[in-house]
Amino acid sequence: AEEQPPSTDLITLTRHVLHDQLRLGAAATGDLTLLLTAIQVTSKFIATNVRKARLINLVGLAGETNVQGEEQKKLDVLSNDIMVNALRASGKTAVLVSEELDDAIIIEERNKGKYCVVFDPLDGSSNIDAGVNIGTIFGIYQVRPDSKGTVEDVLRPGSEMVAAGYTMYGSSANLVLSTGQGVNGYTLDASLGEFILTHPDIKIPSRGKIYSFNEGNSMYFHPPVNAYLKSIKYPAAGSPYSARYIGSMVADVHRTLLYGGIFGYPDDKKSKSGKLRLLYEAFPMAFLTEQAGGVATTGTKRILDIVPKGIHERCPVFLGSKDDVQDLMKFYESDS
Ligand code: AHG
Ligand code: MN
Ligand code: MN
Ligand code: MN
Repeated sequence: AEEQPPSTDLITLTRHVLHDQLRLGAAATGDLTLLLTAIQVTSKFIATNVRKARLINLVGLAGETNVQGEEQKKLDVLSNDIMVNALRASGKTAVLVSEELDDAIIIEERNKGKYCVVFDPLDGSSNIDAGVNIGTIFGIYQVRPDSKGTVEDVLRPGSEMVAAGYTMYGSSANLVLSTGQGVNGYTLDASLGEFILTHPDIKIPSRGKIYSFNEGNSMYFHPPVNAYLKSIKYPAAGSPYSARYIGSMVADVHRTLLYGGIFGYPDDKKSKSGKLRLLYEAFPMAFLTEQAGGVATTGTKRILDIVPKGIHERCPVFLGSKDDVQDLMKFYESDS
């Protein structure tokens, strides 16, 4: 086989986004590119801390509980602080919402910009101490025209986000991003300190062979979910689906984007609205899924159409390959 010479023309995330923004012409001021630069820095900073966590006493609990009643891990708190500091200092934000903060942060006049960022600073907390993949999830809105930046600017449907993405801290750090024109994946070259385009134009296969649910909750699941799961485990024809569930949404969604299949965290008899948070988990992942050609639903409604009432609201989530998610939705239709 002929050997390919090493590339001397790397497409960095900044180069790629800048190129996109320039293509948009007059509307683009470069502000989004600068905001995304700040987010990239937070991902690199969090990634190095994740790598060193076991060595520098960063595993375990921080000793506080967040607004959702979850015990915060040290890395949850550290990642939150890293993001708040960098986003405020970028001068490009007006409102920040974090899983780890009870209230939205309204950025003071001196540092104010026109974007609102909603984020899950560290997703997959329960996996930290075992060294399993974790991540950061973010969604970006622009403040409404004439708004100075209030919480109302983020209580809007996910379809109004201008960008969304996540970084997964795994065998490498992978940043997956959409600015509304498809989805691209970048891998951190740690020696360069740059995210390099490695997964251009990610498209979810229209059908997969994997399902990803916390099936330990089956006894609480509603009938359509259990009936759907039975249909893929005991198919009338062909082979059953494989189960893969990591318990870090970022990792489970990342695999779903690349391999196809379905990821689900339903509402059930115990968790009336499910577990995942609408603003900074469900919306960004639904945005990416749709941009990659997949479907994201609560079972009965498009996730991106939901109008949030509160910043920490939860919602049921099913997302992934179009055909797989549509199969699930049929069980909800016949249930009603
Ligand atoms: P977080 O660690 O940010 O609180 O999110 C946890 C979420 C999500 O990552 C994952 O999909 C889900 O919780 C797993 O929940 P179970 O442990 O109930 O399966
Ligand atoms: Mn949490
Ligand atoms: Mn999370
Ligand atoms: Mn989290």
